[in-house]
Amino acid sequence: MASSIVNVPFQAMKGVDCHYVGLKPSTSSKFSCVKTAIRVPSPRLFVVRASEKHDGPIKKLGLSDAECEAAVVAGNVPEAPPVPPKPAAPAGTPVVPSYPLSRRPRRNRKSPVLRAAFQETQISPANFVYPLFIHEGEEDTPIGAMPGCYRLGWRHGLVEEVAKARDVGVNSVVLFPKVPDALKSPIGEESYNDNGLVPRTIRLLKDKYPDLVIYTDVALDPYNSDGHDGIVREDGVIMNDETTYQLCKQAVSQARAGADVVSPSDMMDGRVGAIREALDAEGFQHVSIMSYTAKFASSFYGPFREALDSNPRFGDKKTYQMNPANYREALVETHEDESEGADILLVKPGLPYLDIIRLLRDNSSLPIAAYQVSGEYSMIKAGGVLKMIDEEKVMMESLMCLRRAGADIILTYFALQAARCLCGEKR
Ligand code: PBG
Repeated sequence: MASSIVNVPFQAMKGVDCHYVGLKPSTSSKFSCVKTAIRVPSPRLFVVRASEKHDGPIKKLGLSDAECEAAVVAGNVPEAPPVPPKPAAPAGTPVVPSYPLSRRPRRNRKSPVLRAAFQETQISPANFVYPLFIHEGEEDTPIGAMPGCYRLGWRHGLVEEVAKARDVGVNSVVLFPKVPDALKSPIGEESYNDNGLVPRTIRLLKDKYPDLVIYTDVALDPYNSDGHDGIVREDGVIMNDETTYQLCKQAVSQARAGADVVSPSDMMDGRVGAIREALDAEGFQHVSIMSYTAKFASSFYGPFREALDSNPRFGDKKTYQMNPANYREALVETHEDESEGADILLVKPGLPYLDIIRLLRDNSSLPIAAYQVSGEYSMIKAGGVLKMIDEEKVMMESLMCLRRAGADIILTYFALQAARCLCGEKR
């Protein structure tokens, strides 16, 4: 049964012959809604369409209200269907007296209509941010560890993918570049090359789709010959303030190209405040910062690192990313990022860290983002391919759970597939 009406920005639907019209029972998916081919003049008009055929009204006899009442008073009660018989239980069902329960929560789950009425959490394509991998090539290269994901050619495949996403109401993307090895260096200068892959791509996308919201990743790992998010000192230490200096240049370069939201994912201390100051100094007061506030040193990032060939060349990221065993420490990061001026706080990974999402939700008034990372995506895909789980249902459930835990937006490789599903499209 359909459970939510999606609220899609009109802008996203421009040039597309479809509008969301709301509830329609569907046996298969709990999350679907209907899309029709009518053009709706007003930007945000939702039409609830009856989904069943009616017999038509009962024929009128031309009686006045007084005549109808008089007939009933006189004992000529008109006919209506009888009280339905009690449905039979299977033979052998024990006959027991009803337990005297004052509360039976199942009453509110009795029918699809009641369940839809009392649903506490909604999800819509407007909540999704679509992470996209880009490269310098003209072809799209499949990513082995992430079935259904590609390194997209920045001028071709990427633009088509963005168009598809916009068609179903996903109008936010975050870009991850695969940088040629020859451009990688120990201090990652390529990260702030104004004509590098990311700034070039931002300009192209903004030119084609001015209302597209572009998030960027701020970190050195795709540009760093050591594969770390920061500059690595001779003794292996990741240098905090020197890295932050580079990140500021990277963020400004992305803002100059037209990025809407820069997202430091590096976990250096103090980088949110430093980036805010650098952006403001260059006149980018309007550019937001989504801080990776609680980013854990997680093995769920494996497929992503394969996608970008960004595995650390030595060691791990445990001196900057958080220990997966820690909870309170996320509050320390939250208070820092808030006071430094972050606009959005992000938790990553997603599903294994629902408690952290809830912690941030309850301790900050800022919007919360959750990143359903590559490993989470690949596990659901693999389970689906092996027919061990129903991929689509598990996908939608995992996204709904992230929302329930307190995420406003979700970065997910499922963005397009899930939005299509929410629109009642199956492919
Ligand atoms: C690095 C970065 C990573 C991801 C996003 N930005 C990987 C890492 O920290 O090693 C992971 C995303 C994913 O796994 O989907 N700045």
